[in-house]
Amino acid sequence: MAGVNLGIDFGGSSIKAGLVDIAQGAIAGEMISVPTPVPSTPHAVVEAIRGIDTRLPGATSVGFGFPSVVKQGRACTAANIDHAWIGTDVSALLAEALGRRAAFLNDADAAGLAEMRFGAGRGVPGTVLVLTLGTGIGSAPFIDGKLLPNTEFGHLEMRGDSAEHWASARVRTELSLGWPEWGARLSEYLAYMERLIWPDLMILCGAVSTHFDAFAPFVTSRAPIRPAALGAAAGVIGAALAAA
Ligand code: BGC
Repeated sequence: MAGVNLGIDFGGSSIKAGLVDIAQGAIAGEMISVPTPVPSTPHAVVEAIRGIDTRLPGATSVGFGFPSVVKQGRACTAANIDHAWIGTDVSALLAEALGRRAAFLNDADAAGLAEMRFGAGRGVPGTVLVLTLGTGIGSAPFIDGKLLPNTEFGHLEMRGDSAEHWASARVRTELSLGWPEWGARLSEYLAYMERLIWPDLMILCGAVSTHFDAFAPFVTSRAPIRPAALGAAAGVIGAALAAA
């Protein structure tokens, strides 16, 4: 199909995918999700992606958003994933498995690209920080619409540990934190981001962003905060855009 790419977003518990109309920045048809293989080795994940490609045929090329630093198509880090990924040339692996061109990028960078082009950051100048709150915390800062990739602000130190161990969405569910308690943790993290880069806008992505109205009253910041306009599809849409 012309102008349609397959976008795939890797998450700690599920891999989400959809065919994306690149001109509209929207899912064409439905989004599907499959459980993340355990252990999530490159081989097991590529097999899962092959299955997804069979269920969603017809894309010109494929984009894969993944929770790792990505340099020249290779995964360089592995915080919440199998360590066998480190050093793997994922672009080449996917292109070979799917017989098509494949783009490989950080998952937060993917969500950020989608939100800046078609969502909550559309047309916003200055410094915009897109954060994904899930198993970890991903970051994608934009300056006048241009992405600085691989920033990994979720791994900055807070309270003697990785910040994502303090304020991610996973921490909220694992510790059964209420919105006020988690909101206070998130506020502390956002204050750190503000001291670091003084954003003009912060956009919150990840499934938890669909509960924005519930936690927003407990979140403070200098810069305005918006939830992802594309909701849980931001990562999928952004991965497909990167493949265009
Ligand atoms: C990873 C990042 C990723 C974030 C959100 C972190 O643990 O290091 O690459 O963007 O989780 O998934």
